[in-house]
Amino acid sequence: MKLLHIDSSVLADNSVSRSLTAKIVAEWRAKNPSTTVQYLDLASQAPSHLSADSLGFRLPAGSAMSEVQKSENAISEALVQQFLDADVVVIGAPLYNFSIPSQLKAWIDRVAQVGRTFKYTEKGPQGLAGGKTVIVASTRGGMYSTSEGGRAMEHQESYLQTVFGFFGVSDVRIVRAEGLAMGEAGKAQALASAHTDILSVTSEAANAPQAAQAA
Ligand SMILES: Cc1cc2nc3c(=O)[nH]c(=O)nc-3n(C[C@H](O)[C@H](O)[C@H](O)COP(=O)(O)O)c2cc1C
Repeated sequence: MKLLHIDSSVLADNSVSRSLTAKIVAEWRAKNPSTTVQYLDLASQAPSHLSADSLGFRLPAGSAMSEVQKSENAISEALVQQFLDADVVVIGAPLYNFSIPSQLKAWIDRVAQVGRTFKYTEKGPQGLAGGKTVIVASTRGGMYSTSEGGRAMEHQESYLQTVFGFFGVSDVRIVRAEGLAMGEAGKAQALASAHTDILSVTSEAANAPQAAQAA
């Protein structure tokens, strides 16, 4: 089993999502010892934001490309293939300004490729990256999950659910630590709750519904 471990927090050793993804990966490996892990740190290795130079994968097949476009295209290709190859993807996704870090968005922009992760049919869009499990470590300074108003304000978990659902991933699991900026007791409670989530999300087999079907 191949696991892709992605971090996107810019807070280095002070990052809560980094500590959670490390625990998720360790727990996953303990339960699935044959797992091999690739690591992508988007704080130091993020692809550049989309530009005319990096949109090569959206050009019609056979289009002439500049050397810069070719080299940017190779980066996009490596990232989408790495994502497609993974059975399990663990993503550290802090809430920054009501959304995800722009580094994580830049990665999503590179892997959202027609013909690779989705396509359009006469009936509408179809995801092409099904059959994998995505585990999101969601960290937040405030509380959002406990009220309708809060849920409407966050564009982090809801956005990631939408994007991975669009790619065809039906098995998206959330490990959540929220209220991290609301005092020491609130933080301790958030971390305890996240650790309970970790035990639960790593107990289910990867992509459990399809694994059951194949058996
Ligand atoms: C640039 C930045 C923007 C933030 N924006 C929000 C926000 O909109 N809402 C919120 O509840 N917390 C916000 N926070 C707090 C973070 O979600 C919180 O510190 C969390 O622990 C970040 O995860 P990390 O520790 O892995 O970086 C923000 C933090 C930073 C650094």
